[in-house]
Amino acid sequence: MRITFIGGGTMGEAMVRRLLSRKLIAPGDITVSDVSQLRRGLLSREYGVNTLADNREAIKDADLIILAVKPQDLAQVMGEIKNPAPQQVVLSIVAGASLSTLQRGLNYPYIIRAMPNMPAQIGEGMIVWTATAEVGQKQKEIAQSVLGALGEEIYVDGEKYLDMATALSGSGPAYVFLFVEALIDAGVHIGLPRSIAEKLAIQTIIGSTHMVQKTGKHPAELRSMVTSPGGTTTEALLQLEKGNFRSLLLEAVAAAYNKAKHL
Ligand SMILES: NC(=O)c1ccc[n+]([C@@H]2O[C@H](COP(=O)([O-])OP(=O)(O)OC[C@H]3O[C@@H](n4cnc5c(N)ncnc54)[C@H](OP(=O)(O)O)[C@@H]3O)[C@@H](O)[C@H]2O)c1
Repeated sequence: MRITFIGGGTMGEAMVRRLLSRKLIAPGDITVSDVSQLRRGLLSREYGVNTLADNREAIKDADLIILAVKPQDLAQVMGEIKNPAPQQVVLSIVAGASLSTLQRGLNYPYIIRAMPNMPAQIGEGMIVWTATAEVGQKQKEIAQSVLGALGEEIYVDGEKYLDMATALSGSGPAYVFLFVEALIDAGVHIGLPRSIAEKLAIQTIIGSTHMVQKTGKHPAELRSMVTSPGGTTTEALLQLEKGNFRSLLLEAVAAAYNKAKHL
């Protein structure tokens, strides 16, 4: 299999790094096309992949074409690589670019659209993806193994779920970063040295999410297990409920979803 990336920036590089470290493909079977000479130089030096500045030339022998440019550069790229060859599959990770936009722009039916999130950069991402009806099972399996190199992947049968995923797992890291930041500040507020507050907050979030994953218990059950009657935790939870923590989060995700639908 030969893969061509159009765009060798943060995500393109992360994908190349993860595919190579998992030995899913040899460097010689990867081509990265990027307008930036700096990026091309770095990618060929660091990873031994082929690099080109001409998008049309770069897709010539590719089985899988991965679009990893910013949304504002997509129209130009689609114009350049319009009408790929019939055996090629195009996989786009461009935020907000719908299957129909891609199909129209490329004049091509075989399209996969994926929504990775930021932790994909370190192989800890959540990637939600879907495909046009024309994409075959074998092609989906290839996409699955490529996307799986970035973290957990889940296929959804319907593009509407991608807009929902944008609001939950796509924007989600920002919610979590805000939560971590606030928890650290809270620790500092009650007198913990910042470095200790940071360690406590981060490990508490990692440990608690692993607890949900590994026990399979409902989060509400785990929460009640850590909440002793008349204890400290219930005092804190009371304040969170008073501040509408839960409904605020619902409203925040719903607002992101509305925005994603109208992009
Ligand atoms: N970063 C994330 O965590 C993340 C998460 C989910 C989805 N995404 C999606 O992934 C896509 C790529 O994001 P990114 O963060 O990797 O962006 P990026 O770092 O800006 O990478 C894009 C690369 O493409 C190059 N480029 C621009 N126009 C081009 C063209 N016409 N042909 C070939 N290469 C071109 C850019 O060069 P110049 O810089 O010189 O323009 C840059 O090196 C975006 O659409 C974004 O929505 C990113």
